[in-house]
Amino acid sequence: MVIGRSASEAEIEFTLAYCFSCEPEPDTLWPMRTVEVSLGTRSYTIHIGSGLLTKLGDHCRRLKLGERCAIITDSNVGPRYADAAVRALKMAGFVPSVVTVTAGEGAKSLKVLGECYDQLAMKRLERRSFVVALGGGCVGDLAGFVAATYLRGISYVQVATTLLAQVDSSVGGKVGINLKSGKNLVGSFHQPRAVLCDLDTLSTLPEREFRAGMAEVVKYGVIRDPELFRRLERELDKIMKRDVNTLSNVVARCCTLKSEIVGADEYETTGVRAILNFGHTVGHGIEALSGYNEFIHGEAVSLGTVAAARLSSRLMSLPDKEADRIRDLLQRIGLPTAIKFTPKKREALFDAMRLDKKVSGGELKFVLAKSLGDVVPGQRVPDADINAVLNLIAE
Ligand SMILES: NC(=O)c1ccc[n+]([C@@H]2O[C@H](COP(=O)([O-])OP(=O)(O)OC[C@H]3O[C@@H](n4cnc5c(N)ncnc54)[C@H](O)[C@@H]3O)[C@@H](O)[C@H]2O)c1
Ligand SMILES: [Zn+2]
Repeated sequence: MVIGRSASEAEIEFTLAYCFSCEPEPDTLWPMRTVEVSLGTRSYTIHIGSGLLTKLGDHCRRLKLGERCAIITDSNVGPRYADAAVRALKMAGFVPSVVTVTAGEGAKSLKVLGECYDQLAMKRLERRSFVVALGGGCVGDLAGFVAATYLRGISYVQVATTLLAQVDSSVGGKVGINLKSGKNLVGSFHQPRAVLCDLDTLSTLPEREFRAGMAEVVKYGVIRDPELFRRLERELDKIMKRDVNTLSNVVARCCTLKSEIVGADEYETTGVRAILNFGHTVGHGIEALSGYNEFIHGEAVSLGTVAAARLSSRLMSLPDKEADRIRDLLQRIGLPTAIKFTPKKREALFDAMRLDKKVSGGELKFVLAKSLGDVVPGQRVPDADINAVLNLIAE
């Protein structure tokens, strides 16, 4: 494993930091736009735009963080972006070191967590020091948990480099790692001090990962924003070409929605935050079933979203036509909307769903839609209905 690779010295360049905190006109590319996450003393700003990595140091300086910091990144992202992050931090007077972990879900493990702690201790990070999570959701969850627990908690900044991380995982403070017995079983709530979504970093994201991130974007439309959903239907070609202007609007809208939801229910106690799990009951089951190999998170969520939409038509008031629209959009994105089920696989899926965190008292709970943009969490669904819907998504 690559861990503790030191970043090369590089030429320092100065880039003018633009900062606009008001809403831009639709379809106008502004150098940067911001979304506030209002959580009292734990409030922070999400910055969305081009060229943000070069301004990382300026953002950290404004937060009055200590001198020393550790950039935790992975073996795909580090070689591409760690030097730029190091340069930006040094230019602002910080003393950064780089900790590189192997890319993928495997990074969210007790073993890698322990190695990160050792690296931070070796680099003599102290209470005012901070962590920069440079990468996708895996790095963000791991680095955030390192920051939540090292020296009983230090600050961290998220620099999200996947679409999924920019619209979802970097915001809201859920951090953690996996155990052999299940995903995200050890974790904490630890809000970042700032989130940077540099849209330029998406240019190197593999197509499959980009599409997977789109599953979460579609989710926001379904749970809270029919206008976003229509926009996705209308502007999908531009989005899939990663047009920065269009992406900037979409990422900002998703971050605004996530910020509102997290602001209303930071610790997932009232049920509001649980709506973010739309499509995730079956989704997590399928992910676990495939040993986290066959389907990556967003792909499994796409299948789970089709299942949840069909259940919503069956048990709630969502018209069949709307469930079709949801499936069609996911299909146009290139996400899976049907899956092969052997009877054995179906049984294993039920087992996997029952192991998930969303189960209480042994009963499977779903977020279901009454209409596009209006969902209710905590819906108990009998196995017979789940089976009927699995028939509908079977290839
Ligand atoms: N904390 C939360 O609220 C939350 C929410 C949703 C998902 N998650 C977690 O997020 C994780 C998935 O996140 P993800 O989809 O971002 O996966 P990821 O972090 O594994 O990134 C996907 C792949 O893309 C590579 N990559 C990342 N950025 C790149 C770039 N700009 N250019 C080239 N390659 C790049 C990574 O190295 C990796 O191989 C899961 O573990 C999931 O549980 C957490
Ligand atoms: Zn998800």
